[in-house]
Amino acid sequence: MAEQLAVFVSSALPGDAPLARLRDRATVDVWEPTAPPTDEELTARSAGCDGVLAMLTARIDGAFLDRCPTVRVVANMAVGYDNIDVAAATKRGVLVTNTPGVLTDTTADLAFTLLLAAARRVSEGERAVRDGEWGAWHPTWLLGHDVSGATLGIVGPGRIGRAVAQRAHGFGMRVLYYGRREVADFPGERATLDELLTASDFVSVHVPFTPETEQMFNAELFARMQPHAIFVNTARGGVVDQVALREALVDGQIAAAALDVTTPEPLPPDDPLLDAPNLLVLPHVGSATDQTRERMASLAVDGLLAGLSGDRPEHLVNPEAWEDRR
Ligand code: DGY
Repeated sequence: MAEQLAVFVSSALPGDAPLARLRDRATVDVWEPTAPPTDEELTARSAGCDGVLAMLTARIDGAFLDRCPTVRVVANMAVGYDNIDVAAATKRGVLVTNTPGVLTDTTADLAFTLLLAAARRVSEGERAVRDGEWGAWHPTWLLGHDVSGATLGIVGPGRIGRAVAQRAHGFGMRVLYYGRREVADFPGERATLDELLTASDFVSVHVPFTPETEQMFNAELFARMQPHAIFVNTARGGVVDQVALREALVDGQIAAAALDVTTPEPLPPDDPLLDAPNLLVLPHVGSATDQTRERMASLAVDGLLAGLSGDRPEHLVNPEAWEDRR
């Protein structure tokens, strides 16, 4: 590969090694501000580049690709790639890569953290201490819900769903899963969505955000859940109808929700969702550990360099674009 390769990276990367490897092979322009580039800034900085290493905050659509026709590879530093119009990329022969696997355990850990925190009202208790509301020990204060022995419904039995199910077994939970297909060796029993919703004490979402899953969790689904059920979402905010979720919490149709992802992100502090009772929200930190973020950056660099070198990237989202090149 030649030195004249040019690459735009839409954020500073964790760790020094991934960027150093990229710099060995290409001229690299890194977006340094903490706030992500706007669509216009992304286009302006990517124009003339051969590849882009994109964060999930970068929108890569047909308009972007038309304005940046030299871009041949887009490496997304995320397992989800709903920020990329993959069909538009495929149509233009642009390879798209993602970073599956390296964030599975870290994201599953966070999903389980949310589950436990919501079940045991951790955030409420911590706030009470700080706000001076910690009175005498009382047998009915801050009562949560048992996790051990409870039933967990996993919606989306992919890598992360499986890792959450494995953690649940450590807590003696019964695990149900719902997916379009039966998953061999999944550590749980397959159920219909209705069976899962009506039987689960906890429902954890692990589906990708696609036109099929958009606002999948709507009023009808929340109405089927048990009044003591706790809803956990570490997938994408777009899979939830947030108005319906707020109503389900306000009306007591479900007991609590714990979210790592919302629509929009960041969620403005005056968003009506934040007024809902028993809601715990984190700022999309599922994969946010030093080690995992560096692994993600490294895998994204691998994908970018492979595609730009004419090799088939290991984690290619659109193999059709590769076939079309041949
Ligand atoms: C992903 O990878 O899709 C996460 O949401 C960010 O780590």
